[in-house]
Amino acid sequence: MIQQSIDLSEYTTFGVNAIASEFARFDSVERLSTVINSFPNRSLLVLGGGSNLLATKDIDALVLKNEIKGITITEETDNYVVVECGAGEVWHEFVMFCVNNGWGGIENLSLIPGSVGASPMQNIGAYGVEIKDVFHSLDAFCIADGSVKTFSKEACEFGYRESVFKRKLKDQYIILTVRFTLTKHPEVNTKYGAIETQINEMGITSPTIKDVSDAVIAIRSSKLPDPAVLGNAGSFFKNPVVSEEIALTILNQYPDAPVYDTAEKNQKKLAAGWLIEKAGWKGKRIGNCGVHEKQALVLVNFGGATGKEIFELSQRILDDVKQMFGVSLEREVNIL
Ligand code: FAD
Ligand code: EPU
Repeated sequence: MIQQSIDLSEYTTFGVNAIASEFARFDSVERLSTVINSFPNRSLLVLGGGSNLLATKDIDALVLKNEIKGITITEETDNYVVVECGAGEVWHEFVMFCVNNGWGGIENLSLIPGSVGASPMQNIGAYGVEIKDVFHSLDAFCIADGSVKTFSKEACEFGYRESVFKRKLKDQYIILTVRFTLTKHPEVNTKYGAIETQINEMGITSPTIKDVSDAVIAIRSSKLPDPAVLGNAGSFFKNPVVSEEIALTILNQYPDAPVYDTAEKNQKKLAAGWLIEKAGWKGKRIGNCGVHEKQALVLVNFGGATGKEIFELSQRILDDVKQMFGVSLEREVNIL
């Protein structure tokens, strides 16, 4: 069924009002084709869990809510499994399914909101792992000709919070299923300091993937706001990658500034949360929106904020960080 004039506030974790001119759900590629064919040449917006979106206006498009389900093993050896997952599955539930089966590789990505289908969009990452580390392939529906194409890891062109689907192929494909290669003999990845500290606090000496998952869940719950309580979309900005020269200038003035190495020797990654806090924005409220008190990278809707107000707040933060540090932040959240 195609519905008209649907308020998307309950379909996005920011919870801001925005009316979609048309709205439909699909749980198979056949259903997807039928819906699209009934509205030829209509602008489309695919929606997963709505946890990385900010609508700043009403959406003049056919919004398609992905509900393709199902988890199957497509390949198995003594050492690994290739698991195929429907794009409409909830990411965290998929992680729990894998952890409970003893398949390692995505336990550090526990509790990230959203759908499996959106996970390749920005190559979701947390606590030292990105999905590109375990990604096998995906199938996607080509909007232009209705064919289904398989993308390898290389074809996805993954980067930090990036993929080909956010760049060159933006708005051209709808992801249907994603496959991951997970190990049956996991070695836990606790190199991200906070995990080690949390595991020590839990009194665990030989952590399993379930322990790592529990530790990540505990850390995330302690510092990230729950969208069910306080509207947000996680990190609003990316951590900026800058020249070594800019990083050194900041370190000269602020020796405690967090600065991370990147794959490129002369480029460093800075912590946007630290920059925003130093610019005085942490915990600030402007009208019905603001900057989270425990994590300056997260913008929040206290209730009743519009997408435009949140966007304007993000612009003020961008401007202040640019003025104070000469660093241009880039939004991570998809702005509509
Ligand atoms: P949506 O918000 O529904 O969509 C995001 C974008 O992907 C949109 O452009 C949409 O059109 C497109 N899209 C969605 N599904 C498909 C599909 N099937 N095919 C094609 N395009 C599609 N992200 C991280 O990387 N790491 C984190 O640690 C993290 N922590 C977060 C914590 C909180 C509290 C919140 C609210 C968000 C966090 N995020 C994090 C961001 C978010 O969870 C991820 O980006 C997630 O993958 C978004 O999934 P979604 O289904 O909600 O996508
Ligand atoms: N920091 C501050 N003030 C703040 C927030 C952070 O000084 O208000 C400092 C911290 O003290 C730390 C550094 O910044 O030294 C990094 O902070 P943190 O470890 O909390 O991680 P982050 O860089 O803020 C990133 C991701 C998160 C991911 C975590 C854990 C981005 C944009 N964000 O946050 O991803 O969960 O690391 O790996 O890369 C998301 O993408 O939505 C997201 C939540």
